[in-house]
Amino acid sequence: MGQPNELEILHHVSFDVMPGEFVSIVGPSGSGKSTLMNLIGALDRPTEGSYFLDGIDVERASDTDLSMIRNQKIGFVFQTYNLISKTNALRNVELPMLYAGLPKGERRQRAEELLKLVEMGERMKHLPEELSGGQKQRVAIARAMANDPAIILADEPTGALDTKTGHLVMNLFHQLNEEQGKTIVLITHSPELARETDRMISIRDGNIESEEILKADRPYEKELLRLRAEGGASHVAG
Ligand SMILES: Nc1ncnc2c1ncn2[C@@H]1O[C@H](COP(=O)(O)OP(=O)(O)OP(=O)(O)O)[C@@H](O)[C@H]1O
Ligand SMILES: [Mg+2]
Repeated sequence: MGQPNELEILHHVSFDVMPGEFVSIVGPSGSGKSTLMNLIGALDRPTEGSYFLDGIDVERASDTDLSMIRNQKIGFVFQTYNLISKTNALRNVELPMLYAGLPKGERRQRAEELLKLVEMGERMKHLPEELSGGQKQRVAIARAMANDPAIILADEPTGALDTKTGHLVMNLFHQLNEEQGKTIVLITHSPELARETDRMISIRDGNIESEEILKADRPYEKELLRLRAEGGASHVAG
């Protein structure tokens, strides 16, 4: 921000994500993955260029509209978890539902179910500081699913997990994608995990280095190729 430290992080990055698609973004540390995720999640606006989220021009949308879209359509799993430190796991997961206006009983019940799903049923009353990195990560994943979002954006969601728990989370994502049609954008350092997704986008120094379709039989394929041929602006649809 501002001179002399002002940097351009992403350069001419252009791609589309289709509803129901499971896309992975890979790239070295510092290549701009988290920056890109903040743009996709409408937490930041691009300095130049355009971005459409489910048909909405993010550049023109008001902050209030964007907050509502984020709350109802997007589940975020941040690289640094971003849990509220003064409140326990259960209330962290309840929070997005509180903002969405869900009654207390329903909130509590759903939060408990989600925490059990990520095998955190035994630690619901603990504060984030009393949890390990992997446990915090699982609470963050439960919170991301709270409002049943159409889009899940996950930044290294398995980075702090052991192999077994990492697979539990990946299987959960596959299930959400295949059975509930959720659109998922997954940032990962693991080529092995990326290979399990529908499409892998590799970025390096803020540029898309390559894009590889890993599952060619998905229903949105034709539309994706058409958009690519048009060379339009970047879109994400959920
Ligand atoms: N708030 C900020 N202000 C200025 N520069 C920033 C800021 N956040 C990140 N950067 C810079 O932007 C570049 C991209 O950072 P980003 O966090 O997007 O990388 P990343 O690909 O997510 O890396 P990692 O794999 O380590 O998480 C880096 O060079 C970083 O120094
Ligand atoms: Mg990052």
